[in-house]
Amino acid sequence: MVSAAKWGATQVVRRVKGPIKSPYYTFEDTKNWATNNTALAAENLMLALRAHGFDSCPMGGFDEPAMKRLLNLSDDQHIIMMIGAGERADNGVYNSQFRFDQKQFVHYV
Ligand SMILES: Cc1cc2nc3c(=O)[nH]c(=O)nc-3n(C[C@H](O)[C@H](O)[C@H](O)COP(=O)(O)O)c2cc1C
Repeated sequence: MVSAAKWGATQVVRRVKGPIKSPYYTFEDTKNWATNNTALAAENLMLALRAHGFDSCPMGGFDEPAMKRLLNLSDDQHIIMMIGAGERADNGVYNSQFRFDQKQFVHYV
């Protein structure tokens, strides 16, 4: 509801004033937006890798400060996830893979 009000207020101000320099979105709002979109792009990358015969593995648990130092990133830059990618090894999957029942997550309405 709050987001809808913010969106509405932003649209009104844009109509009256043109492009706005200080929108009603907070830093957290835009960070969430960027995180969601980057995660979708990451998913597309992983699907594209698979389509080209490669495999990949997303990772959220890593030493972000160390990774930022390695990549020369600044304090206001944020790493959404790391993706390992490459050719599948015959012995690459060494435990049985576990999948939850789809019915737990997908509901048709
Ligand atoms: C966004 C995201 C972040 C993940 N982060 C980690 C991680 O930090 N460490 C880890 O062991 N697995 C992580 N996983 C899980 C692995 O990428 C992988 O899905 C898991 O090892 C199961 O492999 P499988 O899908 O081939 O069965 C993450 C998965 C997702 C979707």
